Amino acid sequence: MDVISVIRTKRDRGELTPEHIDWVIDAYTRGEVAHEQMSSLAMAIFLNGMTRKEIARWTAAMIASGDRMDFSSLTRPTADKHSTGGVGDKITLPLAPLVAACGAAVPQLSGRGLGHTGGTLDKLEAIPGWRANLTNAEMLGVLDSVGSVICAAGDGLAPADKKLYALRDVTGTVESIPLIASSIMSKKIAEGTGSLVLDVKVGSGAFMKNITDARELASTMVGLGTDHGVRTTALLTDMATPLGRTAGNALEVRESVEVLAGGGPADVVELTLALAREMLDAAGLPDADPAKALADGTAMDHWRRMIRAQGGDPDAPLPTARETHVVPAPQTGVLTTLDAYAVGLAAWRLGAGRARKEDPVQAGAGIELHAKPGDAVVAGQPLLTLHTDTPDTFDYALKGLDSAYGIAPAGTEFTRGPIVLDRIA
Ligand code: URA
Repeated sequence: MDVISVIRTKRDRGELTPEHIDWVIDAYTRGEVAHEQMSSLAMAIFLNGMTRKEIARWTAAMIASGDRMDFSSLTRPTADKHSTGGVGDKITLPLAPLVAACGAAVPQLSGRGLGHTGGTLDKLEAIPGWRANLTNAEMLGVLDSVGSVICAAGDGLAPADKKLYALRDVTGTVESIPLIASSIMSKKIAEGTGSLVLDVKVGSGAFMKNITDARELASTMVGLGTDHGVRTTALLTDMATPLGRTAGNALEVRESVEVLAGGGPADVVELTLALAREMLDAAGLPDADPAKALADGTAMDHWRRMIRAQGGDPDAPLPTARETHVVPAPQTGVLTTLDAYAVGLAAWRLGAGRARKEDPVQAGAGIELHAKPGDAVVAGQPLLTLHTDTPDTFDYALKGLDSAYGIAPAGTEFTRGPIVLDRIA
């Protein structure tokens, strides 16, 4: 097989054969196909797409590039959730211990933030002592004893995707439905979960800016999961506005703990419960009551045990940023928009996110949102508080925030849209 003919086939809008796909994924993983060649192929896929048959084979080849985990020794059914990423999306933090408290085992392999979206591991690393890198044996041990574990995927899981995702990130080829679907599902299928709920975000702060693309991505991923024997469903959820009232690592941990304590912002609680019900249904536990587990403290008990099992101290004070800057409401009225992308970008500029994979993040950096769309605001009252250890970033962060919100005259009717926009099974 030669790589030029594979690239030419896709460049000329042809269909890659199973042999093309198996060979090119394997050869790229081994280093026989060069980055510039794979980059060219990724761009041809980005521009010309892939058939469902090609996507299925591409996913299978990426799974076959590495190890598969095995949870068959567990007595509980396994359930996992994957979000396609958004701003203020801290849902995994309360969700994993909540679903474990209801009887499922939750093997939550998570990632770090890149660009304007946050990463679950960066958030949890704000907790003093907490460790993201576990061996497979440690991961199984926490899963068995606590019921949930949130950790980094080992190097052996879908290594072809690891290499390809890093390449896509620097070649403008991330936002491709076939490449996103195969990337996410290869890791989730290799992870070995029995059931999976996908939270496909839609809106300015998400990869998918409109509901048509989000539906296509969701149905592609549901099909891939189902074909591999993983019970998979997807919720399409709003990401036009940030979730909750914080974006940033330690700020989001604090908010997640509020949810586990029975409080927290209404949208975070609503989405956590909606995803928990989906996961419990998919795991064959439809009678479990996640609202009760949140209210009676059992989810919080699981959280504390999970954090301790991974070296963290759930009682330790969370880091705070050295400097804050308040943005006041410029006029009195009703907040009508708060743009997720603009808020995510500003949080990133303050130091909550990274530009390159190896960059550090600031635990305390981020943004607090004092009002959400639909809330009344009064001129001069705090609208946003910016947090950072590097105050020279305030101006840069503020630049993008001017057009991030809209305020209509007081008394303007405003109806909040739903958080869950659609369900795909
Ligand atoms: N997350 C992934 O794991 N892969 C993608 O391609 C996009 C988001």
